Amino acid sequence: MIRIEFSDNPNEELKSWMINLIEENARGDYETSEEGWDRDKKLREISHPEAKYLYVYHSDNAILPIGFSHYRIEDEERLKGGTRKVLYIYEIHFMAQYTGKGFGSTLMENLEQLGSQNGVSDLMLTVFKRNNYALSFYKKRGFIKDELSPEDKSYMILSKPMRRRRIKYI
Ligand SMILES: CC(C)(COP(=O)(O)OP(=O)(O)OC[C@H]1O[C@@H](n2cnc3c(N)ncnc32)[C@H](O)[C@@H]1OP(=O)(O)O)[C@@H](O)C(=O)NCCC(=O)NCCS
Repeated sequence: MIRIEFSDNPNEELKSWMINLIEENARGDYETSEEGWDRDKKLREISHPEAKYLYVYHSDNAILPIGFSHYRIEDEERLKGGTRKVLYIYEIHFMAQYTGKGFGSTLMENLEQLGSQNGVSDLMLTVFKRNNYALSFYKKRGFIKDELSPEDKSYMILSKPMRRRRIKYI
């Protein structure tokens, strides 16, 4: 039975576990992008004061997680003007041996719940175009190309509009 834990203040051990996993999973993607791989910049990003985390643990007594997501609740611009409140998924990563087992889907459901509790209009994320597995994972889960996605970059911005509950007034 997996366990999911929230944190907005990860300790140094978790930070280095995260940065190592990001490097293992995505360094190749960054190196072939306009941005390049910059470990210190990534470390600053995961230490950002607005950064929040969900960690997935394989069992109750596990010390280190098997995967995590770094997300933030923030305001994003709209093309037609104004802003929208979004849950931006900065990272979602699992250790290779734990992928394809449904854990990513469970984590995504938890992120959606957090999004709706926080009243966001969309979930958003950035994905490298060459990451076909992640792209099809997101598309199957309702993400579409966002209006802010650039055409001429190695990455795309995807978003998933949150379903709104109709409130009936009697
Ligand atoms: C992308 C990522 C987060 C997806 O998480 P995941 O745990 O692999 O995804 P899931 O297992 O939930 O779903 C993947 C597929 O496995 C299938 N699956 C689900 N349970 C399964 C099981 N028990 N056994 C085998 N396959 C299963 C799902 O049906 C799904 O297939 P579908 O997309 O056709 O529906 C994960 O693969 C990952 O960390 N990848 C490396 C890092 C990365 O690329 N991150 C994204 C950066 S933008």
